[in-house]
Amino acid sequence: MFRPQLQAPSLLLLCALLFAPLAQAQTQTPDQQAVASAHPAATAAGHRILDQGGNAFDAAVSVAATLAVVEPYSSGLGGGGFFLLRQQREAGVEYHFLDARETAPLAADRDFYQDAEGQFQRDPALNGPHAAGIPGLPAALVLLAEEYGNLSLKQSLQPAIDAAEQGFGVTERYRMLGGFRLEAMRRNAETTRLFLRDGEIPAVGTLIHQAELAETLRALAERGQAGFYQGPVAKRLLDAVQAGGGVWQQVDLDNYRVVERQPVSFNSFGMRVISSPLPSAGGIALANLLQGLEVLPRATPGSAAWTHQLVELMRRSYRDRMLLGDSDFVEVPTAKLLSAEHARAMASSIDPRKATPSTELGEPAPFNEGTDTTHFSLIDSQGNAVAATLSINLPFGAAFTVPGTGVLLNNEMDDFATDPTGENAYQLAGSEPNSVGPGKRPLSSMTPTMLENEEQLAVLGTPGGSRIITMVLLGALEAIEGEKVESWVSRPRFHHQYLPDHIQIEDGAFNPEVQGELEALGHTIKPVGRDYGDMHAVHWNKQTGELRAASDPRGVGQALIKRNAGQQTQRRSEPRAVTAD
Ligand code: GLY
Repeated sequence: MFRPQLQAPSLLLLCALLFAPLAQAQTQTPDQQAVASAHPAATAAGHRILDQGGNAFDAAVSVAATLAVVEPYSSGLGGGGFFLLRQQREAGVEYHFLDARETAPLAADRDFYQDAEGQFQRDPALNGPHAAGIPGLPAALVLLAEEYGNLSLKQSLQPAIDAAEQGFGVTERYRMLGGFRLEAMRRNAETTRLFLRDGEIPAVGTLIHQAELAETLRALAERGQAGFYQGPVAKRLLDAVQAGGGVWQQVDLDNYRVVERQPVSFNSFGMRVISSPLPSAGGIALANLLQGLEVLPRATPGSAAWTHQLVELMRRSYRDRMLLGDSDFVEVPTAKLLSAEHARAMASSIDPRKATPSTELGEPAPFNEGTDTTHFSLIDSQGNAVAATLSINLPFGAAFTVPGTGVLLNNEMDDFATDPTGENAYQLAGSEPNSVGPGKRPLSSMTPTMLENEEQLAVLGTPGGSRIITMVLLGALEAIEGEKVESWVSRPRFHHQYLPDHIQIEDGAFNPEVQGELEALGHTIKPVGRDYGDMHAVHWNKQTGELRAASDPRGVGQALIKRNAGQQTQRRSEPRAVTAD
């Protein structure tokens, strides 16, 4: 049952929660370890490092670096991401957030994608070196190892180096995601050489070896941040980008820093929710959605009334995105947007008898977040935990691989409002906070999240572009309802993002009766015809000590719990159709 256990916090309490150090006096530990990631090789890499005495942060280095090797379509050294860390210290629990988002090069400005005639050009924002922000993942791996880990970076990167040298087998997922990007991949000789065979997507089982990527990982392992952002690797990156018409300079690489930010934190339904701050839109949206739902009349989960409440909150929350951008560069009314008062105002504008047409709420900013990314969740036996969502944006990023490095560049620049002309003045104003700017980070939907109270800890996240936030919301509600972790990752999904003004649903997400009732309320429902997302989650029941972990049946990932030496439990439902997300 879905029963609020706490009243919405007052503004005073909320401010106290926001600005207090995120520490709780808790000393329990799970005495087991769990890793759930998008690929079995990455899950195994995480356990290998934990078995060698590494903590959750060492394992995160290993899992992230291995995903960068075996999921070249989702993340990589040429990309970035967000890491939400739960650090169990003797004095209590601390939460940290590492923003390793890509940054725009210094030579990029708001008219970066206009041609000489002032016309917006979409292709360079998606394909080739102009589309790539300065990567953040290599710096994050170094920082994780140096500031949080027990083991050397060299030790934690070894599984990824092994995977790059030994090769990984092409899956249906690789084929499907590659299929979306085949034309762009064929434009680049190095991408074609590494990831295609005879110019086509390789057959299932084909081994993809990445010797140059192994060397780049070794340079990182040996020289830390300088191994990637300076020296021979940096020179190759700059030579290739500049030869391809890009504008990266050494100063861009020298300047790159992971930003440690205060996570978004608020109380809802008896749980402390810890999530992603700007430049992710996710934490703010989750605060709107959960705190808004909390003050609405209780409706049965899954009913038309409940779905209507969620959809109307989604519509309103996604509209607020027009105010969001990189808060290091633009003023964002973050405290107001996170407040329970704001969520309450949002909730109070919902008419239970009819859908509000989005046009009645005003126009939105353009929506550009890409659609492929990856996620993992893990916990060590001491209670340290990581939720990380990593990306190179579209499948195979910018489809541009730097010769001699194995580094496939991201196309995260497209997450900016790349077209500054917009369709009208209001839209232009709305997207301005997320316009391209030198050194700025593009707005993201990546939402690694944890929910915690005295009884339990939930660790979750997923890829999926603009739908990430609503998937995390649905997963979080499952956790709040006490559903099993397998259900968080597999439950049918629906989504509304203000415009286009329809509910996107996975096939079969609504039964005919609920669908009919929602249509009678004025909702337009659009089955997206396929599964989306690839959620990986861990649950720690602090009362029983039990750990559970699950990987989304829509993907090819694996969740594995090690209770003690020799005793393992795998958690993964049977795979369903493999699809893009
Ligand atoms: N590129 C996906 C996101 O950041 O939301």
